[in-house]
Amino acid sequence: MDKVRVGIIGFGRMGLTHYSIINTHPAVEMTAIADTSSMMLNMIKKYLPNVKMFEDYKDLLKSGLVDAVIICTPSILHYEACKLAGENGIAVFCEKPFTTSPEQSLELANMFEQKGLVNQVGYVYRFDVVFNKVKEYLDQNLIGKVSHVNAQFLSATIQSTKPAKGWRSKRENGGGATYEMGSHVFDLMNFFIGKQQKVYGSLLNQVYSESVEDICSAEVQYADGITCSFHVNWSDYTYRKPMLKLDFHGTKGKIQADLYGLKVYLRDENKEHGIPEGWTTTPMNMLPDPTPYYVRGTSFTNQLYAFADAVKESRNTTGCSFRAASETQELIHTIFENNEKQ
Ligand SMILES: NC(=O)c1ccc[n+]([C@@H]2O[C@H](COP(=O)([O-])OP(=O)(O)OC[C@H]3O[C@@H](n4cnc5c(N)ncnc54)[C@H](O)[C@@H]3O)[C@@H](O)[C@H]2O)c1
Repeated sequence: MDKVRVGIIGFGRMGLTHYSIINTHPAVEMTAIADTSSMMLNMIKKYLPNVKMFEDYKDLLKSGLVDAVIICTPSILHYEACKLAGENGIAVFCEKPFTTSPEQSLELANMFEQKGLVNQVGYVYRFDVVFNKVKEYLDQNLIGKVSHVNAQFLSATIQSTKPAKGWRSKRENGGGATYEMGSHVFDLMNFFIGKQQKVYGSLLNQVYSESVEDICSAEVQYADGITCSFHVNWSDYTYRKPMLKLDFHGTKGKIQADLYGLKVYLRDENKEHGIPEGWTTTPMNMLPDPTPYYVRGTSFTNQLYAFADAVKESRNTTGCSFRAASETQELIHTIFENNEKQ
């Protein structure tokens, strides 16, 4: 394939972000955009005369104009848009959370694998330079056998008691702190350690919201007896920007990582990797990052380029596959069910 013809479905906050990135990929030609907002389509069409605009995404998927689509609609619509794309032989990058049901996620994973179509979900932190360094250290067994992980994702997103409007105010649409933010940390644990085994307890709490949770806490077990305490709070006014923090406790040391860098504590020097005994701090800007284009950091660029490269080369993506995202979906729903039983 010389050029990958790409369409975007849902041209809101994420659609715009992804457009600005994918349009810089040398092998991509943007051919189509779909959004139900005619105001948005009218606003952008004068700047993109060669891109065909659709008010109904089904027409875009049946138009024959795209090899791949980026789906950025409200989460409740991901399933039906992905399914129709698959039926039309179109590769899909779908924003997170993948769907709003584990059954739908599994169905799509099976479908795209059977059809041999490239599939990826926007769990963008898999492309973060710091978290990739953490993954490398864990795979090298740098801190020995890991027994426990503390994973936190905190932000000041919801700070008002005014009744929320829009799709994010309802869980059935994919709203709430668990879907919107928790899904990212759950997926990161899947990336680092693998699929969860058991949810021992979960608590959802409200600070401001009326119909979704603002706080989600969960105790989850993974293979080899590894346990993880998750804490997600999107009403934490002490954070100006969202903060994702991870602490890994191992027999030979500890890793503390966040979006700005990582700290490693080793009980003994590791000569093989040149890391001394005690604490070693590595700020994010000391980690190599050759990403050519910066929009809201470099991870968004790296994940979309991984998708476009996979479509161009007809191979699996290095990002989060539909299969891996289905495992995260299962964890989200087990957390909801566990909380309902409390
Ligand atoms: N990866 C991340 O860090 C991240 C961050 C924010 C949002 N997201 C995800 O991205 C998705 C979109 O979020 P957003 O913040 O861009 O939302 P948004 O509300 O800003 O944009 C959604 C867009 O979809 C359009 N739309 C609604 N129904 C449609 C339909 N039937 N067909 C076509 N377009 C339709 C809306 O008009 C709007 O322009 C969600 O799934 C969200 O969870 C991911």
